Amino acid sequence: MTNAHTGKKVILTGMRTTGSLHLGHYVGALENWLQIQNEAKYECYFLLADIQALTTHSQSPEILRESVRNVVLDWLSVGLDPTLPHVHFVLQSQVPERHELSILLQMIANYNILMDNPTLKTELTRQKEATVGFMTYPVDQCADIYMVSPIPPSPGDQILVPVGEDQIPHLEYARDVARKFNSRYGHTLVPCSPLKAKIGRLVGTDANEKMGKSTNNAIFLCDSKATVTRKIMRMYSDPQRQASPAIQYLRAFNPCDATETLIQEYQSGNIGDKELKETLLVVMEQFLEPIRMRRASFEQIGIHDIVVSGTEAARTTCKQVIKSIRSKMYLEYPN
Ligand code: TRP
Repeated sequence: MTNAHTGKKVILTGMRTTGSLHLGHYVGALENWLQIQNEAKYECYFLLADIQALTTHSQSPEILRESVRNVVLDWLSVGLDPTLPHVHFVLQSQVPERHELSILLQMIANYNILMDNPTLKTELTRQKEATVGFMTYPVDQCADIYMVSPIPPSPGDQILVPVGEDQIPHLEYARDVARKFNSRYGHTLVPCSPLKAKIGRLVGTDANEKMGKSTNNAIFLCDSKATVTRKIMRMYSDPQRQASPAIQYLRAFNPCDATETLIQEYQSGNIGDKELKETLLVVMEQFLEPIRMRRASFEQIGIHDIVVSGTEAARTTCKQVIKSIRSKMYLEYPN
């Protein structure tokens, strides 16, 4: 959205398409994205990072096959709405100019700083066989961000990236890349900034630190009522009644006085685990049933065109970015 006084405000954020989304994704990202969308103050690009998914999942094509479709349906089902003029779903692999930008930014991006990146280092310890693509993904992510950089940049323009704590080093890096580019070639890219928000985190149904697909402790946005019931009833219960995941879920999905009273009753032994879980099931179903209904409606109408038009919107800006960068880096035919 353009406003002469405040500059352009662009939001770019994304997810890797490595499978269906769960409650952890909702609390950790989607809830925040929805709020941003509904504020309608920004041009919002939500990136389906299917290439970045390959940095770690190239050996499991069976996981990737349906993932873009599933993530799109999950986004739609929680209420992200690409029929709004300021909301775009962008499929990373379908923006060839972004790949070009990625290669060109590699020529700017500092190697030593990249190798010191704490998030990359931590993630590296979990890789059996790290790929080159994995090692350079923070650079590639700069291309995701700057493909929507306003051209020409004007004072007050902003690219905001709403992300969790783990992504902050990547944004610092992306800022550095833009500043280096600008100082060598003239002001071209708008250095991005993190959009800090209250970002929640959910433990898994087994009370392990993080809900995840691979750890088999997730409740998915597309789970049926029967599945949700089974998962909740079999969920871990802390014998001390302090660290039961049900407590955290109730607070995340129904924050109110009644919830706090219920938790107190549970912790003082007046009600049992079963009752706590039964209440949680009601709360979760109130949250999940509308999501399922929306999902079903989109399964019918198809999602192809939605993704094509969002991707084309990003492509339009990315073409301008590439044109400007090519010219500034003298990557043109000689006269
Ligand atoms: N790395 C992000 C994640 O794993 C996903 C992502 C890809 C992203 N490109 C991005 C996030 C650009 C913000 C901006 O969650």
